[in-house]
Amino acid sequence: MGQMPPYKEHRQIFIDWCFREVSPQRGDLTILGFDWLSPKEQTLLAVMRFPKRRSEWINGRWTAKQLLLKAIPLLDGRPMAEISIENHIAGYPLVMIDGQPLSGCLSISHRGERVAAAYTAHEDILIGIDLEWIEERHPAFLQDYFTGDEIVWVNTGQPNEQAARTTLLWSAKEAALKALRLGLAVDTRMIEVRSAFENEMESWQSLNYTSDLPEEGTHLIGWWQQRGNYMITLAINLPKYEDFSFRLREIPLKE
Ligand SMILES: CC(C)(COP(=O)(O)OP(=O)(O)OC[C@H]1O[C@@H](n2cnc3c(N)ncnc32)[C@H](O)[C@@H]1OP(=O)(O)O)[C@@H](O)C(=O)NCCC(=O)NCCS
Repeated sequence: MGQMPPYKEHRQIFIDWCFREVSPQRGDLTILGFDWLSPKEQTLLAVMRFPKRRSEWINGRWTAKQLLLKAIPLLDGRPMAEISIENHIAGYPLVMIDGQPLSGCLSISHRGERVAAAYTAHEDILIGIDLEWIEERHPAFLQDYFTGDEIVWVNTGQPNEQAARTTLLWSAKEAALKALRLGLAVDTRMIEVRSAFENEMESWQSLNYTSDLPEEGTHLIGWWQQRGNYMITLAINLPKYEDFSFRLREIPLKE
């Protein structure tokens, strides 16, 4: 008799995510003061010099806190200042509540006034979300960051699709590097992305990753969608031998 396949327990995993423009009418969130930041966040902000970094960081915290407050029933009613979104030395977000790390995984991406954030309470998986503005890139960009097959995939698209295809690949790599918690410290060609390109606006399409980077026993899966001229990708780093299904719930956030 052959070897039994590994036992698979089916588990449904919820991933809550949001994409929003932060207070377009009010402009800079700093006019709200900083009372909604935790004392540690206020200390971190105080040493940030570059206005773009400050404003993206503030927008990311504002959005991620509102996502957590809506997604986690136990946090309902908590003041925002009691949630502290700090960063591990490797860069990934660490959420602290009452001095204790929040279980699960949060991921943040910012582009100017736009922010995408995602959270799962599930402890066995890591997630990465990425947000990019769709634009043309120089052929040298593709040569530097994409594999040969990825370059062919971009170049065989219709001319009006090529910028979206390029942005999709780039964003999917960044989302995966976040889910691996590596960031851009590694060569982006070590993660190959494949996807069909049936672009239905505002609906998740799946994508496939091929990479030796995940630790043994884990692998990457992902999705993408276009919102206006933005590309959003979501990657998950999960154990291989478990049977998961995913529910991606968009959390509406209003000003
Ligand atoms: C992670 C990375 C690929 C994303 O870059 P990007 O597309 O330019 O920026 P995004 O807005 O999409 O994402 C930035 C967010 O990614 C998260 N992030 C940073 N490094 C990360 C890592 N290693 N793993 C997972 N997430 C990470 C952070 O939450 C960051 O936002 P924040 O600093 O406001 O909390 C890139 O920033 C990178 O490689 N960074 C290196 C790690 C680093 O920044 N170290 C500095 C120590 S704080």
